[in-house]
Formats: sequence, C-alpha cells, structure tokens
Amino acid sequence: MESVYIHIPFCKSICSYCDFCKMLYTSRDSLRYLEALKCEVEEYYLGDCIKTIYIGGGTPSVLNPEELAKLFEIVDLFKKTTTCEITFECNPDDITEVLIDILKVNGVNRISIGMQSFNTEKLIFMERISDFEDIKNKINLINNKGIYNINLDLMYGIPGEGIDILKKDLKMLLKLNPEHISTYSLIVEDNTKIKIRGDENIDEDLDAEMYKYILKKLKSKGYIHYEVSNFAKDGYFSKHNLTYWNNKEYYGFGLGAAGYINGFRYENTKNIDTYCEGNYRSSEALLSKQETMEYELILGFRKVEGINLQEFFDKYEVNIQEAFPIKPLLKNKDLIYKNGYIFISPEKRYLMNEILLKLI
Ligand SMILES: C[S@@+](CC[C@H](N)C(=O)[O-])C[C@H]1O[C@@H](n2cnc3c(N)ncnc32)[C@H](O)[C@@H]1O
Ligand code: SF4
Repeated sequence: MESVYIHIPFCKSICSYCDFCKMLYTSRDSLRYLEALKCEVEEYYLGDCIKTIYIGGGTPSVLNPEELAKLFEIVDLFKKTTTCEITFECNPDDITEVLIDILKVNGVNRISIGMQSFNTEKLIFMERISDFEDIKNKINLINNKGIYNINLDLMYGIPGEGIDILKKDLKMLLKLNPEHISTYSLIVEDNTKIKIRGDENIDEDLDAEMYKYILKKLKSKGYIHYEVSNFAKDGYFSKHNLTYWNNKEYYGFGLGAAGYINGFRYENTKNIDTYCEGNYRSSEALLSKQETMEYELILGFRKVEGINLQEFFDKYEVNIQEAFPIKPLLKNKDLIYKNGYIFISPEKRYLMNEILLKLI
C-alpha cells in the first residue's frame, strides 16, 4: 500500500445536502476519537512506505491546535517518501495563520478548500458560507506560507441554478487561479435535509449542459481534464485520488473510512461509540478476480485517458475484450480505442453510469 486516507468526521455545522460520515464537533468526541484513530493505525498499518496521505472529512480543519498535534502524531507513525503528497481538507472559515503554520510544519503540501459557490441563493440552499475576498486572502496566506498546491471544490446543479449562475461562479473561481479544481453536481441523497424537505435533482439536460460548459471553460483556461469531475494544471493531478482510480490498494483509517488492503475491500463503522471501543470494521470482503476486474473498469473509466489494455492484461492475464462485452460499445461509440487505451467517448462521459451498466 502506498496511500493512506484518514477521516476526521467533525464539522462546525451540517450542510443541507451532506450524506457523508460526519457529526457536529465537540472537544470530548474529538479527543476520544483521535485516541481510537491512533489505536487503529497501530493495529493495521503494516509499515510500508507511503507516497500519499489524504486527511479528509468531515472537516479536519475544525480541530484545535492541541487536537491537530495529536492528529499529526498519528501521521508521524507512517514511513513516508521524501515527496509524499499530504493533502488536508479545510473549510474556508477555519483557515488562519496558526492553522497553516501547523500544517506546514507537519509536512502538508496540498490543501483542499470547500469553496462550493459564491452565489448567495446557492449558499443559502446549501447552508454554507463562502466569500470571494475571504477565500482570495486565505489562498494568499497559504501561498505565503509556502504551499502552492491548492484544490477548490465547486458545487453546481443546485435547484434554481441556471447556467448564468454557474458561469459567474466559474469566472470567480478562475480568478483565484487554483492548481486543481474538483467539481460536484449536486446529488439529492437520502437522509439529508434537502431530501426530507422534498428537493429534487435538477433536470438531466441542464445538468449535462452545465457539465459541458465546465469542460469547455476550464479547458480554455489551460486546465487538464483528467478525471470525470477533476481538472488540474499540468503537474498537479491529485496523486492520492489517482490511487483510487488506478484501482490500487490503500489504507482507510477512521470513522466510516473505506480501504483496500491485500485484496480485501472494507468499510469502517459510522458509529463513533463502536469505533472508540476498538470495533473499527463494519464490513470486509475478499474480492474475486472478476470483482477486482469490475472495479478496474468502474474506477479506470473515470480517468479521461481511460484504461491501458496492456496494463489490464499484465494485471489479470486476460484481454479486457474477453473479460467484458467491450466490442458493441466500441461499435456504437460509447467507448473509443486510441494508442493502446480504451476510454469513454468525451460526448458520452456524463452517461458514464449507463455505459458501465452495459459492461458489468
Ligand atoms: C464531504 S466534503 C468534505 C470537504 C469539506 N467538509 C467541505 O464540505 O468542503 C467533499 C465534497 O463533497 C461534495 N459533496 C458533498 N455532498 C454532496 C452531494 N450530496 N452532492 C454533490 N457533492 C457533494 C462537496 O463539494 C464537498 O466539498
Ligand atoms: S459538506 Fe463538508 S462541511 Fe458540510 S456537513 Fe458535509 S462534510 Fe461537513
């Protein structure tokens, strides 16, 4: 394993659309949680040299300096390469000089900020705060402290959002000149405030139009579209997320975290009491060869470059065309073959799930 995901489930407030493993921050929970997290790492980490660490949430940036010290004691347990990519997710509100100093001293070299939108109606819908001047100042602060690899999350497809609102959001986001941009079309998930109050996903055609606009705009500004919803300047692809999309194994530590170790995919419990009692895993399954190949497709086709046929053969000793009904999809141009790779046709990328269903 070369990658580690660490989940910090605490947030200052709960956004209306969020279905992730999260809870309101309390100092009591965070301290007992960090102790349990340390025990989980001590029990399961096998001592391999780690190339990427992603500290996500929830909102890791809600932790105070004392809690951050405990968190980075855990991060110190991992043997790391000298170029190890260490990402830390931040809520714009939490970014202060003190926080960035702590992150910098502890080797964090990539920061992901939940920007989401600058549009008042969208922010009210999401129950979030985000201010352009504030984020601009915070990016300057991060850069001045010597971290030059920043991701901004953008959400779109919010009910009531027209293409003009998206255009304005993108324009402002581009003024901030981040190295990496992750885009998220809103999904109305079960058990969220928006689902309970009856909101619905926006019309599919508008969603597709917005997606196409994002691709065109970001491409024209020099961003490389390297994964279905992710864009980066040259040299700034997320090494950590590529571990997932390349179907490589990784450790997942913390509440609700998922991991893939020695052929087993597992998920941790989402119950903090159970977790703090040391009962980390809620499910675990050894994958068959067929299931592993299916993951290779589901994850690999998220990459714009697609799947390398030779690499697939070297890994599974079978041609991808023999393992899956690829040929009819090449014929109807759902899939395209070029220079040893098979990828989803750019015009049909927003239909990825339907295409995968035809294959698996
Ligand atoms: C789980 S959050 C963690 C980062 C941080 N807590 C935040 O909110 O910025 C990661 C990203 O997932 C996205 N997200 C969460 N729920 C979503 C939903 N229901 N539909 C689409 N995107 C969602 C948001 O853009 C968010 O930035
Ligand atoms: S979207 Fe982020 S900040 Fe909002 S509740 Fe979910 S994890 Fe917390």
